[in-house]
Amino acid sequence: MSKDERIILTGFMGVGKSTVAKCLSYILRTEKIDLDRYIEANARRSITEIIEQDGEDDFRRIETESLREILAQTDIKIISLGGGAWIPPENRSLIRHYQCTTVWLESTFEHCWRNISCSKQNRPLAKNKKLAQSLFDERQKFYCLADWHFIVKPEFSSFEVAKKIAEEVFG
Ligand code: S3P
Repeated sequence: MSKDERIILTGFMGVGKSTVAKCLSYILRTEKIDLDRYIEANARRSITEIIEQDGEDDFRRIETESLREILAQTDIKIISLGGGAWIPPENRSLIRHYQCTTVWLESTFEHCWRNISCSKQNRPLAKNKKLAQSLFDERQKFYCLADWHFIVKPEFSSFEVAKKIAEEVFG
């Protein structure tokens, strides 16, 4: 894979996509963008406010439009998605259309849940363990469709994960 190609990081909430993207951006010396932060900056509201005030369906529409904008209007090489952005077929088609390389950060539910419950970040779709577990189970078959899979374990630092991605994906 050439350094000019785009890489998309996906995976469940709490797996560490944004931090790995930050480390990857440092290692590859290229800009990164986080889809959720882009949405929040444009909407001047948090993701939680958007979901709680407008509903998940509206959030998903904004998410798709924002992904489209980033892909069509920027040349940013590293894009980290929110955990649900990889699920709608329309988003996966968009990503395919722009020939991005996709990376699934794969981990156990327990690892993700530990991070979700320790985090200051509010996650309206993971309000309790049962809800989060069922979303996690439902989504595995979609995450599996990504081009690359990297296992994330609690003992790996985000920098180590990013280094492995940089070495293996970019050779
Ligand atoms: C979501 C994941 C969140 C955020 C929103 C919905 C999901 O992002 O986009 O709360 O559906 O999995 P993170 O994966 O960064 O927590």
